[in-house]
Parts: sequence; structure tokens; C-alpha cells
Amino acid sequence: MSKYRPRLRMSENPKHLLIVDDEVSLREAIAERLADHGFVVEQASNGEDALERLASFAFDVLITDLKLPGINGRQVLEAALERYPELIAIVITGYGTVKDAVDAIKHGASDFIAKPFQFDALMHVLRSAIEQRRLKSENAYLRSQLEERYKFDGIVGRSRPMRELFQLLETVAATSSTILITGETGTGKELAARAIHHNSPRRNNRFAALNCSAIPETLLEAELFGHVRGAFTGAVGNRQGRLEQAHKGTLFLDEVGTMSPALQSKLLRVLQEREFERVGESHTVKIDVRVIAATHSDLTKMVAEGTFREDLFYRLNVIPVQLPSLRERREDIPLLVQHFLERLTQDSGRGVVTMSQEAMRHLMAYSWPGNIRQLENAVERALAFSAGRSQIEVTDLTRELQNQPDAAGDSQVWFPDEGVDFDRYIEAVELSLIRRSLERTQGNKRQAAKLLNLKRTTLIEKLKRLEPPAAAKH
Ligand SMILES: Nc1ncnc2c1ncn2[C@@H]1O[C@H](COP(=O)(O)OP(=O)(O)OP(=O)(O)O)[C@@H](O)[C@H]1O
Ligand SMILES: [Mg+2]
Repeated sequence: MSKYRPRLRMSENPKHLLIVDDEVSLREAIAERLADHGFVVEQASNGEDALERLASFAFDVLITDLKLPGINGRQVLEAALERYPELIAIVITGYGTVKDAVDAIKHGASDFIAKPFQFDALMHVLRSAIEQRRLKSENAYLRSQLEERYKFDGIVGRSRPMRELFQLLETVAATSSTILITGETGTGKELAARAIHHNSPRRNNRFAALNCSAIPETLLEAELFGHVRGAFTGAVGNRQGRLEQAHKGTLFLDEVGTMSPALQSKLLRVLQEREFERVGESHTVKIDVRVIAATHSDLTKMVAEGTFREDLFYRLNVIPVQLPSLRERREDIPLLVQHFLERLTQDSGRGVVTMSQEAMRHLMAYSWPGNIRQLENAVERALAFSAGRSQIEVTDLTRELQNQPDAAGDSQVWFPDEGVDFDRYIEAVELSLIRRSLERTQGNKRQAAKLLNLKRTTLIEKLKRLEPPAAAKH
């Protein structure tokens, strides 16, 4: 009946902990003892450093002094909780500043501890906070909602490239200039195009989309310009093209890089003269349309190779909008995950579902070649595999995501302020890996070497070199 002992599930994986304090000796002493208790500890001596670490890694626990030089503990706390509502945060206060501590708790800190304190007291506070958090998530504790200011028409992100993108989208939406959106697959090109339209003065007219790569060339022309009856085999009636549908609105030309040279010239004319003819007709139609084109291919390269018209490229590329890959803005992953989870569980009556910090680390370590679309699919799949639980665990992820070598983060590397002896450090790591491998294989060197992807002879050689002779006798 040990009330405060975290359950097995909590203690299975090491808790990644960030401790922020400018008092070096106190910080290091605590860090060392926390490490003895199985925490994987990273240290920061000021707020700036702490924020940087928090941006790139999903810690489970933050312990921060409130009084720090520069960015203070309260700001670190707020920034951290905004990004990771699941974070367990404990603040350290100085003598006579309990009021600040209470204030920090109002802002989401789990608990506080006043200086000076015994390590055991800190451990007690920490254990209860972990236990409380577990209970809270089991009760589907309602967490903070996504804030509107981090969204632009359904586009979620708060990283610097995304904030710059929102600003650009807002500015260009007001104009009628042609826009070329580039970016890898799944980065949100279509979403951005729709957002521009919905924030433009043309919003009350049509947003007509045409994917140039999805339709055979002969039909593409008719889809774009429309056709009259009998214009080609199968053209049974008159039909309006996308261009006409988008009159006074926006025409979205997706995968514009796949257009044939003949169609490229026709599109160029539309952009230059704002006029065209329907297929099978000589009557010229005048049009008022804003064109947004998108492509995942490198059009400048295609221009150099002669497969894309240079003059068309310049006509399209009046305002270039480049969407960043998800790899370039990993810090947006927690926010995106929260966004998708909210959307996916909205109508299911399933209550609030969160991603465990450990699972989040795996998501943040992955390279996401399919970008946001792939992340969205991964979240949906994990949700399905989480079988009604209120928290998604690593085991709910695909095998590929589970096997993220980087998910442990470099917080496992101990880096004291005074630095380390690089060679000795590496040797210690080598030795520890070999010993653990031998433990796992009950001393079988061949199997141990296999686990380490080493030759058996290499393992033996290393062991001879690294193992202190005295230690071998013990
Ligand atoms: N920043 C974002 N915030 C929220 N959802 C996003 C964001 N970016 C993309 N998505 C979602 O990801 C999916 C893919 O987006 P979209 O279709 O716009 O990408 P794309 O760049 O056009 O991809 P492709 O090159 O494969 O056509 C969509 O479901 C979209 O809603
Ligand atoms: Mg697309």
C-alpha cells in the first residue's frame, strides 16, 4: 500500500529530467543524486540554455529555480508548460518567496520546494508530483487547449519558420499576386493555398483546385479551360473549366511541374493576358483570377534542364512561399500531435487522449520523410492501437518509430561544466556497452559481439584493452 511509490509503468523507463539552477554546486549535487535514483538528468545554468534544451527535447520533469539571471524561472516554466502540458514542473524558491511559488503553481507548476532543503524532501515532492500526474492523466485530466494565435486557418506551428510563414501568408493574402508554393510532400502546400484564399478579398468566390499530375494531358487541358460539345471524343456537352469556375476567386494548380510544354505556353498566356479559349472554340474568354501554383519538384532545376519554361517560372514565382519540412521544425511536433489528437477524438466520445512524453520523444527523433501527412497518419494509427487508454505509449507506435536510436536524446550524455576527458569518456562508454551486452548474453562473447555489431575478436581485444586488470580479479 505504498501510496507514493510510482507504479511499475512509471518506473519502467528512466524519467528525463532537466534541472535549471545557477548555483553550480547545488545543481550538480542534486543532479548526481537524481541520477542515482534512475533519472536521466540534464542541467542548465540559466533560462536561455533551459529554453534551448526544452525546444529540442521532451523532458518528463523540469526542476527550476525561480530566481535566475536573465530569463527567470517563471518564464522558463511558462514556456515549458505551453509546449508540453504533460510536463511535471517543480520550482525551487528562495527564503521568503513562497508567494512566488504559489503563483508558479497557479500557472501550472506541480509543486515547489523552498531553499534550503534536504535531498529527501525534494525526492518526496518529486515522487508525489509523478504520482499525481499519473492519476490526473488516468482521469483524463483536461489539458490546455491549443491557442488560436498559433494557428493560421488550420495551419499549426509556432517554430520560427512557421511564424514567419504565417506573417507571409497574411501579407500575400491581401494581394492578388501569383504565388508559387514549394515544399516536400505532405508539408501542407494545399492547406497553405486554401488559407491564402480564405484570408483574401476573394474569399466569397470559388477556390478551384486542379492537380496537374493526376490527369492525362489531353484531359488536363479540357479540365483547365473547359470545352465545347464535340471538341474531342467523349466531349458530350459544354463544360466549364476550373479557370472559369475560379473567376473572381482563386485557381490552385497543384503539381504544376508536370505540365506539358504545350500547356505551359497556354498557362503563360493566361497569366500574361488574363484570357483563354475553351477547347474546341475560338471565342476568347476574359478572366479575373488569382493563381496559386504548387510543386514539390525543383522548378529552377527543371528550367536549367529545359523541361520547364523559364518565362512561365518567373510569372508563377512572383511570390515564392517555401514550406519547411517537418525535420526543420521538430519543435512543432508536440503541438501538431496535440492538434491531431484533439481532432481525432473530438467526436468519438473517448475523452482526452495524450501522447506520453516517451512516445513524444520517439516522434521528435524521427526524420518524417512524408512530413505532416505522415505524422497525422502515425498519430491516427497510434490512437487506434492505444485501445481506449487515455495515454498513447511507445508500444502503440509503428515498429519503425519504436526503433528510434535518437529517441533517448543526448541527455544521456553527462557533461559537467568543467568538461570531460573525451578519450576516457568514450572508453568508459565502450566498456559499459560491452559489459551490458555480456550481461545480457550471460557472458557469451560471440552473442555479445553480435548484439554490438562487432567481430568477436574486436570485442575481446577491446575488453582486454579497456578492462582494468585489477577489476578483472574482483
Ligand atoms: N501546419 C499544419 N498544421 C496542421 N495540419 C497540417 C499542417 N500542414 C499540413 N497539415 C495536414 O497534413 C496533410 C497534408 O497537407 P497537404 O495536403 O496540404 O500537403 P501537401 O504539401 O499538399 O502534400 P503533397 O505534396 O503530398 O500534395 C493534410 O491533412 C493537412 O491538413
Ligand atoms: Mg498537395
